[in-house]
Amino acid sequence: MKQRSIIAVDGPAASGKSTVAQIVARKLGYLYFDTGLMYRAITWAAMENLIDMADEQAATLLAEQTTIEVQAASVDDGRPCDVLIGNTDITWEIRKPAVEANVSKIASYKGVRASLTAQQRKIGLRGNVVMVGRDIGTVVLPDADLKIYLDASPQERARRRYQELVSRGDAANFEEILAGVIERDRIDSNRAVAPLRAAPDAIVINSSEMAIDEVVDAIITLAEKMP
Ligand code: CDP
Repeated sequence: MKQRSIIAVDGPAASGKSTVAQIVARKLGYLYFDTGLMYRAITWAAMENLIDMADEQAATLLAEQTTIEVQAASVDDGRPCDVLIGNTDITWEIRKPAVEANVSKIASYKGVRASLTAQQRKIGLRGNVVMVGRDIGTVVLPDADLKIYLDASPQERARRRYQELVSRGDAANFEEILAGVIERDRIDSNRAVAPLRAAPDAIVINSSEMAIDEVVDAIITLAEKMP
């Protein structure tokens, strides 16, 4: 493995990317960076500022002017990191269904993506990073040393997201989660800019029938063979 490698992990909603990538990053001593939280944070800010979700210009301006702080977890409540805008800790707010219902709309805007992609690229190019999202292997870091596209059936993904919410004590309805996952995938896959897609050189892993450890081991084995 070379000195400072880049691993890109993309895939549809709730495919287990974050869980798996966090463990992979820890095992390799790499930074784990979740780009989804940035789109979620801007969506939260748009809702907080009562911005019309259909107002692309306002959303773009917000993305350009908002500083999203991601720092080491200050609370031991299962969070991988703290996410803040100003002095407000939005770590769990951005995981709520209301944000999830709007995030794909905000993420479809060219200006929003341009602003967030530039920040992500800067972090990614430092290397020794596992970066997770929808367009990391295709747009953000097309020269990544290893590209993984992590998939699973919609039912399995909805089941995992349901379990995640329930384990945090949040209200959850399986059918609503399933519909939300399918709808987000539809918007993310069909947008004009940086749609959800496996890069041609990505290794596709279907994790429907795989345990977390099996997926982690598969990625570590591939990482050990990185040029
Ligand atoms: O955790 P989950 O897979 O459900 O979602 P996420 O990775 O936190 O991403 C939330 C949303 O942000 C996605 O549905 C996309 O609309 C958007 N996103 C994106 O467009 N590009 C990325 N690189 C990451 C997320």
